[in-house]
Amino acid sequence: MKTILSHLLRSRSSFHKSRDAVNFMLCKDRCPHVTHTYLFNAMLVKKDGRLLSTTSNMVDESIKGEKPERVKVSPLPTGKILVLGGNGFVGSHICREAIEYGLAVCSLSRSGRPSLCDSWADSESMIWLRGDLLSPDSMKDALSGVTSVISCIGGFGSNSHMYRINGTANINAVRAAADQGVERFVYISAADFGLVNYILQGYYEGKRATERELLAKYPHGGVILRPGFIHGTRRVGRIKLPLSVIGAPLEMLLQYAKPLTHIPLVGPLFIPPVKVTSVAKVAVKAAIDPSVPSGILDVYKIRKYVTELSA
Ligand SMILES: NC(=O)c1ccc[n+]([C@@H]2O[C@H](COP(=O)([O-])OP(=O)(O)OC[C@H]3O[C@@H](n4cnc5c(N)ncnc54)[C@H](OP(=O)(O)O)[C@@H]3O)[C@@H](O)[C@H]2O)c1
Repeated sequence: MKTILSHLLRSRSSFHKSRDAVNFMLCKDRCPHVTHTYLFNAMLVKKDGRLLSTTSNMVDESIKGEKPERVKVSPLPTGKILVLGGNGFVGSHICREAIEYGLAVCSLSRSGRPSLCDSWADSESMIWLRGDLLSPDSMKDALSGVTSVISCIGGFGSNSHMYRINGTANINAVRAAADQGVERFVYISAADFGLVNYILQGYYEGKRATERELLAKYPHGGVILRPGFIHGTRRVGRIKLPLSVIGAPLEMLLQYAKPLTHIPLVGPLFIPPVKVTSVAKVAVKAAIDPSVPSGILDVYKIRKYVTELSA
């Protein structure tokens, strides 16, 4: 007898959905904001009365009169992620993505929990800590039990301030994580912007210094994302800035303009913007999946990963 679930388990795409169903059922208490896909698959599993084994990562079939079938699924997400700057624009989307994936997440920043009303921010899997990364000891407690770090620490100001925030603070974080044996470290860096690099010298020198440190300390588990302009809804106090109004059409248009990015000095201005949710998806994937290789992901590679993840 062909059942809905066994049919789903036989096709490759459905295989992943079935794994999501397992993840959903095991993580639903920690993960209230599941997508419709998760709910749909969870309903299918329940409808046919399958048993889900938590110890062996296998899905059991126990339908009367039907030969039990065992299907191997990928390991469940079990890691704990530390997001540095999880209360910022990019960081909050990364925290949300990781929570929805079923991971335990901790954010560290100077001001702690943001004034968001989103319920994922109050999930019991989400912990908000305060600390200043310019004081190297501030990460010690936050690193307890952490398997991956994603750093979204960055900022603007005078050249020396930009170097300290984009460079020194992140370098402190890379060293502290490596000392504690954290397996993977993902850094949200930034694409070169030609002439802009000269104006924002401290910003770019800080970014590149962190990248060098990361690749030295994490030759196998260090991933650097280099987006250009990131668009989405950015909160500034109580105001929501819809950056996608400009960013989304530009992203559509500039995705075909890669050859123009090679024009000296102004070429990098043609780098397409990227959606904040895309950066978040790829950052979380890079943090938990050892198959994402160490090194730099430019905006084109970020977009490619997102396409693969959504397929
Ligand atoms: N937004 C873009 O278009 C874009 C484009 C390319 C690259 N990037 C890079 O992506 C990263 C995230 O950008 P974003 O737009 O999300 O920036 P953001 O909203 O300003 O977030 C920066 C985060 O860093 C934290 N932070 C700053 N200094 C800190 C310190 N000394 N110790 C601990 N936490 C500190 C801030 O929290 P507290 O203030 O509470 O400490 C905040 O959470 C940055 O590295 C940025 O350079 C952004």
